[in-house]
Amino acid sequence: MATNPLRKVPPGPGRKKKRDKSFEYNLWIGSTACVVLVGCAIALFAPSADLVEALVNDPSLVAHVNRNAQGWKAAESPFFQDWSLGDVRRLSGVKVSNAGVLAECTLPDVTVPRSFDARERWPHCFSGVYDMGNCSSSWAIAAVSSMTDRLCIAQNERLELSVQQLLSCDQKFGKGCNGGALDMVWNYMKEEGLVSSTCFPYKADALPCSFQCNEEPKRLSSACRLSTAEQIRREIFINGPVVAPIVLWNDFLIYRSGIYQETRTATPLVESEREQQLHAVKIIGWGVDSVKSFQKEYWIIENSFGKDWGESGYAKIELNGKILLPELAFAGTPMNSKVAFFNTSETDGRNKQA
Ligand SMILES: *[C@@H]1O[C@H](CO)[C@@H](O)[C@H](O)[C@H]1NC(C)=O
Ligand SMILES: *[C@@H]1O[C@H](CO)[C@@H](O)[C@H](O)[C@H]1NC(C)=O
Repeated sequence: MATNPLRKVPPGPGRKKKRDKSFEYNLWIGSTACVVLVGCAIALFAPSADLVEALVNDPSLVAHVNRNAQGWKAAESPFFQDWSLGDVRRLSGVKVSNAGVLAECTLPDVTVPRSFDARERWPHCFSGVYDMGNCSSSWAIAAVSSMTDRLCIAQNERLELSVQQLLSCDQKFGKGCNGGALDMVWNYMKEEGLVSSTCFPYKADALPCSFQCNEEPKRLSSACRLSTAEQIRREIFINGPVVAPIVLWNDFLIYRSGIYQETRTATPLVESEREQQLHAVKIIGWGVDSVKSFQKEYWIIENSFGKDWGESGYAKIELNGKILLPELAFAGTPMNSKVAFFNTSETDGRNKQA
């Protein structure tokens, strides 16, 4: 008979019977533990290997959500047509490096309404959403398009700034199609400024930093961080959209309409280091709706999965859900373009036509 490796108490004389009992007992504990451990190991590792291969547009997941989710609907998304979860996982590298570096936004003590939508408040400043393609550029799209919105809000005129310039030219703080940090993305816009997207259009690719046009780059004067829902609401209400990270839950990818909240069986996507995968969005408003006689508060976000994803590229997400990280939100303030225009010493001619 093999010795029992789990037995800890050394057998004393006259305890044979007891010893046998304890042996059986230990054996039973041992095998149960083994079964449990193996089960856990399978549960932990095997499905994640499968998940990488699994398609985002999984009809059984869509059906599952539509049976179980309260207040929102799922549908297969054209953006993710034929994408596996592994393809989504490759779009990683979106982070917040050190939120402490930026000062807290200082805001007047205004009372905000119960619901607000920047698209209704400044309709001339919104013209569709980005399709980021196969490139981890959500960090650049959210930041640059919030700058575009805010410039329009401040000056009443829409000039679409170049996301591609930030992707291609910001080698200090960004990694192009491999992601960037939401608290550092503002530095390039402060130091160099951005030309229009007409001058350097978005190509969802790590193009070289090369563009030619006779344009004064628009700069950012400052950026600040927000850490509560109330601060975010005030900032949007006064100055326009802000940027925040979300955790990518697998069922959010197939969100179609309603107020999103991760379903009980949803899993967050993880990056290779087993950190939750982040994705950047723009928050453009908030509101409240009743879902089955419950009042549900939500954020309105603009995403970069194209206009056929969600509610024409936008989504409502539950305010108290686990998807959005409001304590890591950021806002940038564009410089008065007139000041930038007259300060010709700031232009080194590099971005100008030869
Ligand atoms: C995205 O690009 C990578 C190469 O950079 C490629 O391996 C992958 O298959 C592409 N994914 C999709 C969905 O096209
Ligand atoms: C113009 O820009 C230069 C370089 O950034 C700066 O040193 C200078 O103070 C600016 N002048 C004005 C009037 O803003």
